[in-house]
Order: sequence, then structure tokens, then C-alpha cells
Amino acid sequence: MSDFVSNSWAMAVTIAVVVSILACAVLLWVSGTTKVNATADNTTGHVWDGDLQEMNNPLPRWWVGLFIITVIFAFLYAALYPTFGSFNGKLGWSSQGQHADQVKKFEERIAPVYAAYDGMTPEQIAKDPKAMGIGERLFQNTCAQCHGSDARGSKTFPNLTDADWLGGDGSPQYIHDTIVKGRTGMMPPMAAAVGSADDVNNLAQYVLSLSDSPNDSVASALGKSKFVACAACHGMDGKGNTAVGAPNLTDDIWLHGWGAEHIVNMINHGKTNVMPPQGENLTEGQLKVLTAYVWGLSHK
Ligand code: HEC
Ligand code: HEC
Repeated sequence: MSDFVSNSWAMAVTIAVVVSILACAVLLWVSGTTKVNATADNTTGHVWDGDLQEMNNPLPRWWVGLFIITVIFAFLYAALYPTFGSFNGKLGWSSQGQHADQVKKFEERIAPVYAAYDGMTPEQIAKDPKAMGIGERLFQNTCAQCHGSDARGSKTFPNLTDADWLGGDGSPQYIHDTIVKGRTGMMPPMAAAVGSADDVNNLAQYVLSLSDSPNDSVASALGKSKFVACAACHGMDGKGNTAVGAPNLTDDIWLHGWGAEHIVNMINHGKTNVMPPQGENLTEGQLKVLTAYVWGLSHK
């Protein structure tokens, strides 16, 4: 398989390879047959350090021999390995193939470790200290860069140790599917549906009141009626809706920051929050143990 999109690149590479190998062969032949400034005493006339003379001898045979071997080697190598543009080489070797091979060998080697958990449910695996050790290492390698090494998350990255779930029930199935497919939380900009800047500010105070956070009660009362614009996703009571990934606004858990300023920002600009799929780099066994580990974080 060639990565070149156009044949002319493959041609250019082929020509460059052939020309440079041939140039080496010609250089060897020319330097082996041309006599330079032959003198009676067979010196070139160059003298260093008083009496160190440069002789005009031919190249040593062993050296020429090595040079010929490298030229032959270059042609053999070019025939066996992918050297000429889109030509794959007689051995069919490729770096992707070698990588895939190593991955396969690695997976075969670790398979027995995970086979131990084959017949077990995630709930059972979560009670196995050895499995949880493996799960933690997998988490540190694939998830911690976003969710934090303690899995408590940070702004825009949800805490995985609490009972608050954006898009599901926190079951092993939900966690498994989230790892494999990733997820996207999407709230559209809502300012136009709410009204003026004052309306947006009042609504933000009302949202704060839902979780008994400090708020301006007069503004909050004015903003209450505007919440109909939000109810389709967050529910009339503001308790959220996992089917559309709309968080509970009454629990005082804030993914995108606490306070009126952050809420106004959400209303005005909305938010698209993406977790990319993570399944590709995990074997079935790893996925199973990691799922159990994450589930265990919130089900102690
Ligand atoms: C590149 C950053 C990133 C990585 C890596 C990542 N996540 Fe996420 N994850 C997120 C974001 C962002 C969200 C929230 C998406 C949203 O708002 O709906 C999320 C959401 C989740 C959720 C749903 C939380 C909820 O409240 O419903 C789970 C479960 C989860 N991640 C587990 C994992 C696991 C396990 C890994 C490692 C295999 C992982 N994530 C790796 C960014 C990441
Ligand atoms: C189309 C559905 C939808 C509508 C309508 C909607 N939201 Fe959201 N909202 C979401 C989703 C989904 C998220 C989570 C985004 C994410 O995963 O990061 C969210 C997040 C939020 C957050 C952040 C919560 C946190 O934990 O930080 C606030 C605040 C919020 N919405 C307020 C509102 C208000 C106020 C309205 C009405 C003007 C509204 N939303 C209308 C879907 C919606």
C-alpha cells in the first residue's frame, strides 16, 4: 500500500533511488580506473609535517570490495523492501504491518491476565483488588489526563466518583458505552429564546436559586418565567434529563463553573463538550476491567 496520492511522487522516489545507487557505482568505477598525476616516484607531490608524503596508490582491494558489496546490497534491499515509491518489496514488509504484529503479540501475552475475569460481572470484578490495581493503571494511562488522576474531574471534565451522571445511570453498561463511543454534550446558545440581557441575568439568578445557591431573590423571581426556554432539556423542575445529557441544575454540582457569570455564559454561548471515543486502544479484557474500576469509584 502506498501513501502517495499521485503516481509522479512514486516515480520521483524511484528515480532518486536508482540514480543515487548508480552514481555510487560510477564513482567507484571512475576512481578505480583513473590515474591521477602519475609521477616517477608514485607520489602526488603533497607533503606534510616535513616528510609525510601522499602516495598515488590505488584504493585497497578490500575497501573496493566493501564498496561493491554495498552497491549490490542497495539493489537487493530495494528489491526486498518498499523502496521504489509504491512498490511494496518482495518481502511485503511494512511499518504498519510490523506495528500491528507487535500489538497482536502484546495482546496475546496479556490475554491470560484478563481471562481470569471472563466469567465475572463488573460488580464482582470491582471487588477484586488485583483487578482494581490493573484498572487504576489503565485509568491513569487513558483517562486521567482529562478526568484527573483521582477521577474527580475539573471544569468541563465530569467527576466520575459521584452519583451525578450526565447521560445515563452510571451503570457498568453506560460507562462501557461511554468509553467505547465517547460522548458529546451539546447545549445551544439560548439568549435569543430568553430575551434581553436583563432577562438573561434574572434567569441566571433563578438557576442559582434551584440549588439554594446564594442569589438575588428579586431578580430570581423575575427570571423564573424565562426558565420555560430551558425546561425542554433541563426539565421544568431543573433536575435535568439524561436522555439529552442536560445536567441537573438543582444539585449544586457545576461542570462549567459555579456562579451567575458562568450561567450567563452558558445561556449566551451554549456549549459543546466532547469526550472522544477511547475504545480503540483497549482490548476487550482491558475494557471490562477498566469499566469495573470506574463503576467502583462511585459504588464503594
Ligand atoms: C480528551 C478528554 C477525555 C478523555 C481522555 C476521557 N474523557 Fe471521559 N469525558 C470527557 C468529557 C469532556 C466528558 C463530558 C462530556 C459531556 O459533557 O457530555 C466525559 C464524560 C465521561 C463519562 C460520563 C460522565 C457522566 O457524568 O455521565 C464517563 C463515564 C467517562 N467520561 C469516562 C471516561 C473513561 C473511563 C476514560 C478513559 C478510558 C475517559 N472518560 C477518557 C473527556 C475525556
Ligand atoms: C437543547 C437542550 C438544552 C437547552 C434548551 C438548555 N440546555 Fe443547558 N445544558 C444542556 C446540556 C446538554 C448541557 C451539558 C453540556 C455539557 O455536557 O457540557 C447543559 C448545561 C447547562 C449548564 C451548565 C451546568 C453545569 O453543571 O455547569 C447550565 C447552567 C445550563 N445548561 C443552563 C441552561 C439554561 C438556563 C437554559 C435555558 C435558557 C438551558 N440550559 C437550556 C442542554 C440544554
